[in-house]
Order: sequence, then C-alpha cells, then structure tokens
Amino acid sequence: MTSEISAPPDPQLLESMRSIGYSVETAIADIIDNSISASATQIELEFDSERPEALTILDDGIGMDADAVIKAMTLAGDSPLAGRASTDLGRFGLGLKTASFSQCRHLTVVSKTKFGQLVGFAWDLDHLAETGRWSLIQLDEAEIQGVPGVASLDANQHGTMVIWRKLDVLAGKKGTTARLLNEDLVRVRRHIALVFHRIIEKRGIRITVNGRSIDRVDPFLANRPGTQKGPEEYISTGNSRVRVQAYTLPFLNKMTREDRQLASIGASFKDDQGFYIYRNDRLVIWATWFRMIKKDEHTRLTRVVVDIPNSLDHLWSLDIKKAVAAPPPEVKSQLKRIVDRMAKPSRDAHSYRGRSIDRNDGVERVWTMISERSEFRYQVNRRHPTLADALARDPSGTESLLRLIESTFPIYEAAGRVRDEMTPSTRVEYLELVNTARAIWDNMGGVTGAQRIAAITSILKLTEPFAGRDDISKIVEDVAR
Ligand SMILES: Nc1ncnc2c1ncn2[C@@H]1O[C@H](COP(=O)(O)OP(=O)(O)OP(=O)(O)O)[C@@H](O)[C@H]1O
Ligand SMILES: [Mg+2]
Repeated sequence: MTSEISAPPDPQLLESMRSIGYSVETAIADIIDNSISASATQIELEFDSERPEALTILDDGIGMDADAVIKAMTLAGDSPLAGRASTDLGRFGLGLKTASFSQCRHLTVVSKTKFGQLVGFAWDLDHLAETGRWSLIQLDEAEIQGVPGVASLDANQHGTMVIWRKLDVLAGKKGTTARLLNEDLVRVRRHIALVFHRIIEKRGIRITVNGRSIDRVDPFLANRPGTQKGPEEYISTGNSRVRVQAYTLPFLNKMTREDRQLASIGASFKDDQGFYIYRNDRLVIWATWFRMIKKDEHTRLTRVVVDIPNSLDHLWSLDIKKAVAAPPPEVKSQLKRIVDRMAKPSRDAHSYRGRSIDRNDGVERVWTMISERSEFRYQVNRRHPTLADALARDPSGTESLLRLIESTFPIYEAAGRVRDEMTPSTRVEYLELVNTARAIWDNMGGVTGAQRIAAITSILKLTEPFAGRDDISKIVEDVAR
C-alpha cells in the first residue's frame, strides 16, 4: 500500500523566491494591484531617498482582519486555480510576498477593516533563517504604533499598509546614492502611470508618490480629432472573448506638445507601436507585435488595444509578475490577421504615389520618382546635365556610385523627420550654384560669346536646382566672367 508523508517546503523557500526577476517598478505595481483589487481609491507610496530605511504603500481599500492578513502573508493563501472576481488583479496568491522579497528582507503588513482594530504581521527573512520555521511575526499594539507611517493608516476608516524594510536590493546595492534612488522613483512613477492609466481614469483612483500625483498617460489619444479609431472586433475563446481595437495616432506634427507627452511610452513613437494588452483594465504588456510583423515606419503610429478578462489567465501564460503574457495560438492567429490588414502600406504612402515629382514641366530634376504598382522608389535622373557629364567622364564608376546612393536613400528616416515637424535644410549656397553652373558651362563646347550665354541661361532655367530661381542671369554673369 502506498503511504504518504508530509513534505512541507523549508522556509528558505522565500529566500529562493527573491530572484524571480522583478524590477523595483514591477514589484511596486504588484503591491498596487492588491490595493486596487481591495477597492482602494487612494494609494500613497512614500520613500525617502535620503534616508532609505523603509518604503511604504498605504491604501484606503477594504482592509483585512487578522485572519485575512495571515492568509495574505501565506504563500498561495488563495489558490491560483480558484475563480476570481472579474475585478481582481491577482491570480497566484504570491505577489505580495514575491514582489516584496525581491526588494527587501522584511515585510510588514498592517491593516484595518471598517469596524476593526489595526492588526500587523511581518515576515523577516533573517528571523526565518534563525528559527528554521515558518514563523510569522505578530505585532503587538506598541509594535504596530512603531511602524513608520502607520498614523496615516490609523487616521483612515479602513485600509492596508505594506511596509518594506531592510531594503537590501532596492537601496542596499553598492554605490547607491540618493540620486540613483530618485531615478528609480522616476521609473516607478512612469511605470505606475502607464500600467494603471485606464484604472486610474475609469475609477478615479489617485496614486501619489511622495505626495505627488502620478502623471496622466493616454497611449491612444482616443478623443483627439486626428486619431483614427478602428472598429471594435471580438475574438472568442471558450466562454470568454477578447476585445481588439486599433488606433492610429495623428501625425506627430498634428499633435500638440501635451498630446505627445501623453502618448509617449518608451524611447520613440516607432518603439511604442504594437499591441497593448490589458487584463481587467491593467496594462500587462505593451508595444510589441509578438514578432508577427516588424516595427516598421508605416505602422509607427498604430497601437492596438487587446482586452483580456482574467478568466483567460491560463491561456495567456501570464507570469507571476504579470509582466509577461503571450497570446494563446487561436487568439494569435486572429491577431495576426488584424495586423496583416493594418501592416499594408498606409494611406499616406498611397496618396504620396499620386504626387509624382515628374511634373512634365520640362525641368531636369535630380531625383525622379518611379512608381511600380504598390511600390515606389527614387531614382537619380541621369539626363540631368551635371550627372550626364559625370557619367560621360567615368561611366561605370559614376553609375555604381549613383546606384549606391539610390539604394540607400534614407526614405523612412526622412519621412519620419518631416512628420516630426523637423525642418529640412534645403538651402544651397550661392557659390555652390555658381560652381555647378560653371561645370555645365565648361562642358558646353562649341558656342561662344553671347550665344553661349543665351544657351546656358536656357539650360539653367530648365535644370534643378536653378529652375524657378530669379537670380539665374546673375549666376550666368558670374560664370561667364
Ligand atoms: N492591500 C490589500 N488590501 C486588502 N487585501 C489585500 C491587500 N494585499 C493583499 N491582500 C490579500 O492578500 C491576498 C494575497 O495577495 P498576493 O498579492 O500575495 O496574491 P494575489 O493578489 O491573490 O495573487 P497574485 O500572486 O497574482 O498577486 C490577496 O488575494 C488579498 O486577499
Ligand atoms: Mg497580488
């Protein structure tokens, strides 16, 4: 007959779970998840980078009684397999512990329900190592009162405060300074602002870091007139459905400075394109096409909202940090279909095709646009007098040079800059013009005197960059001198 023995994990498990891969910002976001799931409307993070002894996160959520805090402090106190309220941001019953111990060695939770007293419990990794038991420390009243910042919690009717102390990872790294910690705080602010932007807006939640509200973020500029909203589409999986909606932001030169700030997520607009996956309104992954397409210039302003309910967590391989999620295959193939449709050359590129620079006005331009079905390219016009001269002198050398230039013309780069409202410098120095004209003059051969002057004048009138200028006769004068 088989027999069983109990094999509980060693308390050192908490030590091993420290390196699950949280950053400061993802760890803090995990604590804030819990506050939001507890219906908090005000969440305050306090951290003194000059005296980095404690980091506290206070909320005015429903709070917990002693039993609930003990359960909250227990690893997997709630089963990951259990159904969750559709507003619950949690899944694994781990976040509070794993996120905290990724940054510190001492975690205290003090809480209070509407009609209850303050209760407090703490895990201390050093204490666990000493006792070798799962020895959760229960704080007595005096100890609770000694917890930094607890007076603010006491002043509220209900709520919870998470206190991290012994901040060995967050603040104990060698060479850490207040300045570096402040940089961490900036990242924390940005991260919180982004991942909770929808929740903040929808539920009117206020989140502060050291007393200052975090900034507003609006990745889709959904209410701006220039934003193109795609249709809402639904992908069904099992009993749940995933909502998809594409947005194309207005061109950058049509955005106000404020819009740009609201919509800036990462290093550049090009980087920020992609899917934005929300789980219960909380952004879990963003600015990626899941390798379906490349982050191209013509999709640079496209951002696609994907809304997933928490009932699909098992399909999305959500990780403990809620920072990684991959679409299940049946959703992925549908998303790919949507993306392929969008990744076709944008309308902008189409309308450009009609705007040929071959204007049939007889002017020899340096660049010609060649359009072939849905593609277009720029080619150097070999009939242009200056180029024709060079080709006559060194046919193969010049030809390969021109091909090199044509094939590397930085078209997307240039288009991006123009859209970003940068001003191209198209100025040509007068002396440069005279030199170019002189080369043409020198190669004219045959005619002399007034005839030669008349001839070059008519050539220049029909040659870029002279065509349209009103100082052609002066240029000719300088050349003929
Ligand atoms: N600020 C809080 N207010 C009220 N209850 C809380 C708070 N923080 C944690 N809890 C309770 O503690 C439980 C455990 O939290 P923990 O973050 O460890 O796991 P989880 O949120 O259930 O799942 P996940 O691992 O996905 O975060 C929560 O389910 C919740 O019941
Ligand atoms: Mg949680």
